[in-house]
Amino acid sequence: MRIYLVGFMGVGKTTLGKKLAKAIGCKFIDLDKEIEKREQTTIDEMFEAYGEDYFRIVEREVLELTLSENVVISTGGGTPCYYNNMEFIKQQGFCIYLKADPALILQRISRYPGKRPILKGVKPESMLDFIQEKLSEREVVYSRADLVIKIPVKSFSFLVKSVVSELDKRLA
Ligand code: S3P
Repeated sequence: MRIYLVGFMGVGKTTLGKKLAKAIGCKFIDLDKEIEKREQTTIDEMFEAYGEDYFRIVEREVLELTLSENVVISTGGGTPCYYNNMEFIKQQGFCIYLKADPALILQRISRYPGKRPILKGVKPESMLDFIQEKLSEREVVYSRADLVIKIPVKSFSFLVKSVVSELDKRLA
């Protein structure tokens, strides 16, 4: 079994992914961390030194290499939206889209200003518009996931139950 979590920055892919992995007895892998390990640098520095196109190439390579079994993989916010990554993700596993409103995303990403290279240069007063625009572009891809979970989740056990019952249906 291989589960991919996709969704915009700040929706909680890593936090929920770790908890989900623990609850269903899987390993957890954070794709951004794998990229940083492989490149021996931070994502921020990669964007800075080589630009986004280079980052997207490495991201795709690492996605292809990250194929262990019984794993929950949290992807980066842009991962499914480049090359045929979403198709690859859906071929290789079960894909969950963590869907949040722009206002909630804004609230969450504002906790760590400067953390995300994609948001550099966006003025605070334009941030909501930026999120709305980028999210509506990306939503087309995210929505191809096998399961959509609305964030914030009612409860964590609700999330686990929805995932397990959906997986059971597909395996039946
Ligand atoms: C990105 C999201 C980031 C990271 C990179 C690009 C994006 O991951 O992959 O900064 O394009 O949305 P998170 O969604 O984990 O912040």
